[in-house]
Amino acid sequence: MIVVTGATGNVGGELVRRLAADGERVTALSRRPASFPEGVRHSAGDLADPATLKDAFDGADALFLLVAGPDPRAVLDAAEAGGIRRVVLLSSQGAGTRPRAYEHPAAFERAVRESGLEWTILRPGGFASNALAWAEPIRAHRTAAAPFADVALPVVDPADLAEVAAVVLRQDGHAGRTYELTGPAPVTPRDRAAAIGQAIGAPVSFAEQSPEQAREQMLRFMPEPVVEGTLAILGTPLAAEQQVSPDVERILGRAPRSFADWAARNAAAFRP
Ligand SMILES: NC(=O)c1ccc[n+]([C@@H]2O[C@H](COP(=O)([O-])OP(=O)(O)OC[C@H]3O[C@@H](n4cnc5c(N)ncnc54)[C@H](OP(=O)(O)O)[C@@H]3O)[C@@H](O)[C@H]2O)c1
Repeated sequence: MIVVTGATGNVGGELVRRLAADGERVTALSRRPASFPEGVRHSAGDLADPATLKDAFDGADALFLLVAGPDPRAVLDAAEAGGIRRVVLLSSQGAGTRPRAYEHPAAFERAVRESGLEWTILRPGGFASNALAWAEPIRAHRTAAAPFADVALPVVDPADLAEVAAVVLRQDGHAGRTYELTGPAPVTPRDRAAAIGQAIGAPVSFAEQSPEQAREQMLRFMPEPVVEGTLAILGTPLAAEQQVSPDVERILGRAPRSFADWAARNAAAFRP
């Protein structure tokens, strides 16, 4: 049995569908009720409240873990108590490149490494799916706004993250590894908006936000240090943050999906 946290999210949702299609026994954990493929067991649990995880963890073998809740050690203790032997953590590139700003994922990484479990850490860069923040303005008036219009980053497709997770959860040989996961090439926000225009067959105009406008918007749903760290990555990325990693291709045996591929598969979200 594989327990997938974040099962209602971009990565976890795709991972649940993939594992279920392969005939694996899956428990989808979420706080919100949701519908999952036939045969998938749903368990209501909150990573902020480890007592609620017992139902999902008891008798399971492997855990796909998100960074959520204040106490990673309590979550990992509950996993071990339930009999789980392998954990795959979805961390963040920033835990490696900017550990002070990304203290929360960095703390989860430490706890996973110090646990008695066989662990693998996935460190993705920014997700292609962050462009879904443009869905409403593109549907309404075909415009997208973002700061640092011409700074390119190799954003990663959540479907590739799910596919990598599906491999490392089930295959031996990944224990004690930390993988950097990116897309195949750096793409600027301006080019991402243009790729969405291509995907929907209508041009999308791009409005460059000031960093202050972006900060104000991000502070509505992210803690302040993460906002500062994210703005620094978006505006003045380190070489390590712009670099294309070979890890997706090493694990999957094919190149990562491009942003244009993500946009084509998700075009419906941007059409009126
Ligand atoms: N977006 C990026 O660019 C980026 C970059 C690097 C790393 N990441 C990491 O990737 C993670 C997953 O991203 P995503 O796009 O797949 O997720 P998402 O679509 O943003 O959804 C968030 C998921 O987290 C779950 N969740 C949040 N708090 C929880 C809690 N206390 N207990 C249990 N589940 C909880 C939610 O489940 P319910 O609400 O249904 O319970 C939901 O499934 C992020 O949380 C972030 O840590 C993201």
